[in-house]
Amino acid sequence: MNDVTDISSLLERNKKWADGIREIDPDYFENLSHQQTPEFLWIGCADSRVPANQIIDLPPGEVFVHRNIANVVVHSDLNCLSVIQYAVEVLKVKHIIVCGHYGCGGVAASLEDQPHGLIDNWLQHIRDVYRLNADELSKIEDKQALLDRLCELNVVEQTHNVCNTTIVRDAWARGEELCVHGIVYSLQNGVLKELLAERRSD
Ligand code: CO
Repeated sequence: MNDVTDISSLLERNKKWADGIREIDPDYFENLSHQQTPEFLWIGCADSRVPANQIIDLPPGEVFVHRNIANVVVHSDLNCLSVIQYAVEVLKVKHIIVCGHYGCGGVAASLEDQPHGLIDNWLQHIRDVYRLNADELSKIEDKQALLDRLCELNVVEQTHNVCNTTIVRDAWARGEELCVHGIVYSLQNGVLKELLAERRSD
């Protein structure tokens, strides 16, 4: 796919990139270093094919990002909760995006019978999504269609989990403008599709 296999080539590519940007705007990094005012928090899958900034075509400084396997939001995950708190209370983002993707390896692994080790504990959250939606999912015979639908339902459930955090509930209670979106990405054509959006509920 590409010939970048060692750190020295990465550093070389980084230098060319930084030089290229400074050529266009000599103060770019200096200005960016003083502030970040993103409007968006992105909670996505760690999959290397789903890079937040590139997909929504936003430069550095415009989107605050948290990624983990299968874009799961767990009520006791201090890592994710801290990201949400900082984004909402300090950065004052206006939108939280939970972005899943079709063909998600984590979601697919949750459907398999064989053990995967430690990660099975994490994937259990996706099995919970299956159990919550078993009536619908058990009727889908085609394997690909089942995986696609579980990827979508995982986004829906994780979006609800974001909405149910004390952080988002408190922000809505304070009357803040904050919208939580559930979105799914297609690896096949690079297009995002919004599945649901939750605004202030009070
Ligand atoms: Co994935």
